[in-house]
Amino acid sequence: MKFTRANALKGTITVPGDKSISHRSVMFGALAEGTTRVTNFLRGADCLSTISCFRKLGIEIEESPQEILIHGKGLHGLSAPSSILDVGNSGTTTRLICGILAGQPFVSELTGDDSICSRPMKRIMDPLSRMGARIESLNHNGCAPLRIEGSSLHGIHYMSPVASAQVKSCLLLAGLYADSPTSVTEPSLSRNHSEIMLERFGARLDTRGTTATIYPEPRLRAQEIHVPGDISSAAYFIAAALIVPGSEILIKNVGINPTRDGLLRVCRDMGADITLLNECRDAGEPSADLLVRSSALHGMEVGGSIIPALIDELPVVAALACFAEGTTVIRDAQELKVKESNRIDVMVQNLSAMGARITATDDGMVIEGGAPLNGAVIDSHLDHRIAMTFAVTALAAGGETQILDADCVRISYPGFYEDLASLIS
Ligand code: S3P
Repeated sequence: MKFTRANALKGTITVPGDKSISHRSVMFGALAEGTTRVTNFLRGADCLSTISCFRKLGIEIEESPQEILIHGKGLHGLSAPSSILDVGNSGTTTRLICGILAGQPFVSELTGDDSICSRPMKRIMDPLSRMGARIESLNHNGCAPLRIEGSSLHGIHYMSPVASAQVKSCLLLAGLYADSPTSVTEPSLSRNHSEIMLERFGARLDTRGTTATIYPEPRLRAQEIHVPGDISSAAYFIAAALIVPGSEILIKNVGINPTRDGLLRVCRDMGADITLLNECRDAGEPSADLLVRSSALHGMEVGGSIIPALIDELPVVAALACFAEGTTVIRDAQELKVKESNRIDVMVQNLSAMGARITATDDGMVIEGGAPLNGAVIDSHLDHRIAMTFAVTALAAGGETQILDADCVRISYPGFYEDLASLIS
C-alpha cells in the first residue's frame, strides 16, 4: 500500500472498541453465569481469535454488528476442546487463556502464528507452575505451542520482574481457581482493565499500589459492557494531526484510563495541543473526546513508570520524535523487543530508511528530531502497530512510502486505512 504527503487532516472520527477490554469481555463473560452483552466490541482478528477459542471450549457466542452475546457457563462450565486452540497473533489471548486453562479439569493445547510461537511464555509458565499448574512448551523453547494440564491450584504472591498486564491478568484468572488468595506485584503499574472488569463481574479483588490480589470466588455474574474506543488506535490519528500542518480533528469516545493514557501525557509534554472534551465513565472505564490540533513539538526523555501506560504507542512516539525539535530518548522499554515484532529494531530499520537520525539502545531508542523524512519501502514485519505508525509518518514525509504487508492492521483495526483517508482533505 502506498502513501504520500497529505494536506491538513480535518473532521471527526470514532475509533473501534478497545482491544484489551474486548478480549476480557469475552473471557470473563464465558466464565460468568448468564448472558453477557457487549457493545462496541472490537471485531479485529485478535479478538476474533479469543471468540474462536472460547467457542472451542464449549461457549456459545452470538455475533452481530451491534453486539456480542456471550452465553457464560460459570467458572466450571468450560468443556475440553476437541482440537488445538488457535490464538492467531494474539499475545493477550495466549497469556490470559493459560491462566484459565490451568484451573480446568482437562488437558488443552494451544498454538498461534510464527510471531506468537517466538514470544516468551516462560513469564507465565514459571508463576503458573508455582501455583501448581502443569504447563509445558511443546518445543521446549519457552514458547507456544503449549500444553496445559489442568490441576488444583494454590495462591501465591508473585513478584513479577516485568510490568505486564498479560502476566498479571493470567495469574489473577488462575487465582479464581486457587485455594487461597493470589497476589501479583509489578515493578510499575500495568493496565488495570482486568481488575476493573473482574470486580464488576463479582470477583473479590484488592488493589494497593502495584499489587493486585484476588480471592477465590465461587461465581461470576454476567454483565452489560460498553467498550470505550481504543486509545492505542486513536494514537495514529493523534500523531497524524500533530505532524501534518493545519490539521484539526476530533476523536470521539476514547478510553483514557490512567494506566493507558501515557501517550497523552507525553504528547502534551512535547508541546502538543490536545483538549479533552465530554469526559465520562462507563463500566468503570473513563473516556473522553479528544480535540487534536497540529503543533510544534520538542523532544523529551520518556522512561520510568510511564512506560507501561504507553507501551503499544512507543513506535508512534518514535515517529513523532522525528518531527520534534531536539533529542528524544526512550528508555526502560526493553519489552518492545518481545512484542508482535522486535519494535526497537523494526522502528530503527524503517525510520532510518526514511532518513531519520535514530539509534537503538538496549532498552529503547534515541532520536534526533528535525531531519526531513523521505518516502521509503517499509517492512511492517506483519506487525499491525508498525504498519499504522508508518501510514501516518508517510503523511508528513516527502515522496512515496510503500508499506509491505499493510493488511496486518486487521489484527486491531480492520478499517484503519479507510478511516485515515476520511480525514485527509
Ligand atoms: C495487553 C497488555 C500489553 C500490551 C498488549 C495488550 C493486554 O502487553 O502490549 O498489546 O491486553 O493485557 P504486556 O502486558 O505483556 O506488556
